[in-house]
Amino acid sequence: MRTPIIAGNWKMYKTVAEATALVEALLPQLQPLNSVQRVLCPPFTALATVARLVQGSGIGAGAQNMSWEKEGAFTGEISPLMIKELAQYVIIGHSERRQFFGETDETVNRKVHAALAYGLTPIVAVGENLAQNEAGETVAFVSGQVRRGLAGLTPQQAQGLIVAYEPIWAIGTGRAATGDDANRIIGRAVRDTLAEMFGRAVADAIRIQYGGSVKPGNIAEFVAQPEIDGALVGGASLKADDFAAIVRQTAEAKRKA
Ligand code: 13P
Repeated sequence: MRTPIIAGNWKMYKTVAEATALVEALLPQLQPLNSVQRVLCPPFTALATVARLVQGSGIGAGAQNMSWEKEGAFTGEISPLMIKELAQYVIIGHSERRQFFGETDETVNRKVHAALAYGLTPIVAVGENLAQNEAGETVAFVSGQVRRGLAGLTPQQAQGLIVAYEPIWAIGTGRAATGDDANRIIGRAVRDTLAEMFGRAVADAIRIQYGGSVKPGNIAEFVAQPEIDGALVGGASLKADDFAAIVRQTAEAKRKA
């Protein structure tokens, strides 16, 4: 049984004051739901504050990006060593990083290796765009992203990471994938590729999330699927009641399973 994991990717939203208010509203709702792993990924400026507020609550903190370098003359970058002081998780290779900041499967791969070397849990994001989806290229493309992004890891290292399947056309559009489609792509493009790379037992232990327009109204459809172990939530993670409802429904779905 894989423990479900719901992570909130706040993207470039929330000042420190707003982040504080959000965490204070979330804590009483999220704390009892400890059958689900809960992770908050604020912007870097709020990471220390959020980390301090969730300390001892069982709720994790994560960064949204990271350099692969430990330190150095890299203006504007944040290192795994620095994140490690505050957080346990780091999102790597989100499609917005790939689209707007030139990240590639190769840079993703360097970052994944660096995160694991520092004891951080990477949440590695993959997903196809609309044109690839409509051309029927989804499985080949996503499986290539997994293969290149996770190249060179040992099965033991791979076991500790999380993959987030986020079809780009579903992000921020209100048009989520169906549970069945997401389950099928995650099974074939992600888990089967992980099995080829690291063996079936390791692949079966790795948590794989769905992301893209997840809301309280559709989370149940995703977490009821056998291949889907939770969600990476954008917009709905910015509202305490919505994010808490998503975690609550995940806890309920897994209790019934
Ligand atoms: P939305 O939930 O806003 O569609 O964003 C998904 C996402 O990109 C999470 O990383």
